[in-house]
This record gives sequence, C-alpha cells and structure tokens, in this order.
Amino acid sequence: MLRRLHKEQPDSFAFTPDNQAWADAQITKYPEGRQASAIIPLLWRAQEQEGWLTRPAIEHVSDMLDLAYIRGLEVASFYFMFQLQPVGSVAHIQICGTLSCMICGAEDLVAVCKEKIADKPHALSADGKFSWEEVECLGACANAPMAQIGKDYYEDLTTEGLSKLLDDMAAGNVPTPGPQNGRYSCEPLTGLTSLKDHDSGKTKYNASVQLASDIGDTIKRIDGTEVPLLAPWQGKSGSKPVSKAKPAAKKTAEPKPAAKASADATGDTQQAAKAKSKAKPVPKTAKSEDAPSASAGKKPSTLKAARETGADDLKMIKGVGPKMEKLLNSLGFFHFDQVAKWSDEEVAWVDQNLEGFKGRVSRDNWVKQAGVLASGGDTEFASRVKKGSVY
Ligand code: FES
Repeated sequence: MLRRLHKEQPDSFAFTPDNQAWADAQITKYPEGRQASAIIPLLWRAQEQEGWLTRPAIEHVSDMLDLAYIRGLEVASFYFMFQLQPVGSVAHIQICGTLSCMICGAEDLVAVCKEKIADKPHALSADGKFSWEEVECLGACANAPMAQIGKDYYEDLTTEGLSKLLDDMAAGNVPTPGPQNGRYSCEPLTGLTSLKDHDSGKTKYNASVQLASDIGDTIKRIDGTEVPLLAPWQGKSGSKPVSKAKPAAKKTAEPKPAAKASADATGDTQQAAKAKSKAKPVPKTAKSEDAPSASAGKKPSTLKAARETGADDLKMIKGVGPKMEKLLNSLGFFHFDQVAKWSDEEVAWVDQNLEGFKGRVSRDNWVKQAGVLASGGDTEFASRVKKGSVY
C-alpha cells in the first residue's frame, strides 16, 4: 500500500493548550541537541487529537522540533501506525489478520467490516462514523481473533460480537474492551488450572481493561485533559506536574479537509503558504514595532542587515536550525557578538518573540555559546556542525 498524504488537507493544525503543554514537556525529555527524538510521540499525540495525521500537523510538529518538513513526513509515512487519511469520526477498526487471528476467524471479522463499514479498507462508512483496515499481529494472539478499536483491544471476538460493538459505538456507547467471551485475561476459558492464588484480590477487569474503563478514553479524541500532565524528569521529587498552558480560547475543530485545497498542486497547504507569506514573524502590529510582543524583557539592539564581513553562521549555536536562523535574521540578529551581549532582560525578550520556538534562548544557553564562538573558540556542538554530522 502506498503511504502518501491524503489529497485533501485541512487549512491548519494546532494542539489544544493541554496537548501543547504535554508536547512541550516531552521535548524536554531528550538530551540537548536531540530534541528531534520527540517526533514520534508528538506526531502520535497530534493523531490522537485529530484522528488522523494531516500535513499541517506534520508541519507543526516538524516546526516545533526545528526539523525540515520532509524529515517529519519521512517518519509519518514510514510507520503504519500513523493514519495519513481521514478515519471514522467515531472509530477506526484495526482487525488483526495474522496467523492466530486468521485461523480463529479474522477473515469473517473483515467481512463484517466490509458489510457494515465500507467495501475497502481506509474508506469511510456512508455516515462517516467508521473506517477499518487489516493490520499485522497486535500481540494478543492468545485472545484471537481480536481487533484494536481506538486505543484498546477487543479480544475473543465473534462476527456477532463485532457487529454489536459497531452498533453500540454508533449509538454513542463504548463497550468495555478486553476479552468479549467472559475471560478475565488469557487464561483457559474454563478457568485457571494452576497459580490459582492469583485469583484473589483482583480488580473487576484485568489491568489494561481496568485502566481503559477508569480513564474512558477508548475511542475519545485526546485533548490532553484526560490524565494529569506529569513530567517527573523535570522535578526533583519525581512526580512534579508541569505547569499547564493557559486555558484554551477556543477548541480546535475536527480536521475536515478544506474544500479544493490540495496538498499536491503546489506542494503547500494553505497553512504553509500563509507562513511563507509572513513578512516578519514579529512584531504583529504596526504600533508594536519596537515593543516586545509579550510583557517580559527588553528588546536588544538590532541590525538592519549583516555587517559587510557577512553574517555569522548562527546554526553553530546549539538550538538554532535553518528555520531559527532565518527567524533571527528577520529580527535583526546576524552575529555571534550580538547574541553574546544579550542581558537577562534581553534574553527574556527574544525568548518571548521566537514565534513557535519560545524559550529556546535560555533553554540552550545561547549567550554562553555565542560568547565562545564570538571570541573565535569552538563549542562541542559547533565542531560537530563543521564536521557535517549535524545538518
Ligand atoms: S495473530 Fe492476531 S494478535 Fe497475534
């Protein structure tokens, strides 16, 4: 199957504030200079929020990680877990078609999907509520045949059982995941024959089903409010919650393909075109030309253009990629010595005015790095850039 972007794409993508806070926290999990490693969890969260992975979402995540869009697309199109086309608004059904499940009736489950959803995989049902596909082994072979629906596994399925699940979901209910034939987990249907002590003190459902029932997020689009945002690696206690972003002004809409907006005709979505047409990322209003766009800090002195000797390669500073360098140039910063002179107040101003990259200056300690580079020295990162092992 070809893995390519859907021909119709929405105009834009934005994480909900809670998902944005979650994504920002994930990025801090990785060592300096390795933030791109966060791409899979971030793409995954974008998909959990929207149901499928749109081009604007891939662009947004790539921007957050200072990656070229093609790098994001490479990851998104490589892994089959990323849905590159719209999925059912209620649920996307993934039927395991590998050996154990096939022997135990997966083909019959596929037939149910064809009959009740759509003839072909990845097509939407007539009411737009469901889509389906056949996938490789999902690791629950002892409970074959099974399907993943939304986040959870529905196991020991029958054709009647799957048909009823779909009807229930269409009616707005979410059946309890897990074995559908009365089994607790993957023990013999007639009960445990050994290790019977294990039977005592157990919860109503097995651990994963219990969790799914407690959180109730089986087929929910994730907006980040489902569970507390924890980032223990950021706190001393190991359980410090990360401060959440400010409440949403508005919720993001369902990612409906924009009418007649093709991602392939020009290679750009409307979101990408808008981004390109921005003359300056900041300031946003005529009046605020010299004022910080956020309350904090003081604007450093800037240059209209690089000095005659030419601009420094700001990408030698860890945390500055090609996009960031362009952004800095557009703000009037071209040289290491400019950056090296920023006071704490000026760092705060720049941090606030790096649209899409807020907080980078202090996080990566640009002032210290720029000081070394301005005096003719090399940082470990700059040496790697020179060797070509970074870009
Ligand atoms: S064969 Fe279906 S889960 Fe492994």
